Amino acid sequence: MILVTPSILSADLAHLQKEVDTISSADWIQVDVMDGHFVPNLSFGAPVIKNLKTKLPLDIHLMVSNPADRIAEFLALKVANITFHAEAVMDTNSRRALMEAIRRGKTTAGIALNPETPIDAIWDIVDDIDLVLLMSVNPGFGGQQFITSVLEKARALRLAHPDLMIQIDGGINEETAALAREAGCNNLVAGSFIFSAADRAEAILKIRGV
Ligand code: DX5
Repeated sequence: MILVTPSILSADLAHLQKEVDTISSADWIQVDVMDGHFVPNLSFGAPVIKNLKTKLPLDIHLMVSNPADRIAEFLALKVANITFHAEAVMDTNSRRALMEAIRRGKTTAGIALNPETPIDAIWDIVDDIDLVLLMSVNPGFGGQQFITSVLEKARALRLAHPDLMIQIDGGINEETAALAREAGCNNLVAGSFIFSAADRAEAILKIRGV
């Protein structure tokens, strides 16, 4: 089953609740948390989403240098998934501690890889993690071009881990979504393609491939 996860970074943040209401046919909602240090952009945190009304599971993508500092506030919001970056947490013990801290709620734990980071950078945790997020742009901004070399990583990861949730994020539109699905990704994050569409429900169907 292919999950479609709109990224609200591309939404009109002055009308966030209305924007979220327009994507109710999606599967998850991704919240891009940026600290202006791990990535060159500053976005938003728990206070901005704590009053959001949606039935969709919230997927927190922590593009921050100290993800452990952010876990409690998002667990308090009972989010569905929290993903941290492999490049921000390099040693296995810290990764495992973070994964366990995230799972203390009913929240699943994901690890993200920037485009240049090889998949063997997470050999130590890939058998236990719930989700791997393959960034197909350098993180920090929406509206960038899809980096096709990431598809090789997706294929290799899918071959080695048939049951793993493989999420891909960055430059996903109707064409690149088809490439990503074919490479074995089953959770597709799209920001500008969905939020720039006149018909967002139709845009979500195009990403799903139906
Ligand atoms: C980039 C974010 C992505 C981005 C996706 O750092 O993690 O989720 O918002 O936006 P598009 O789909 O426009 O590339």
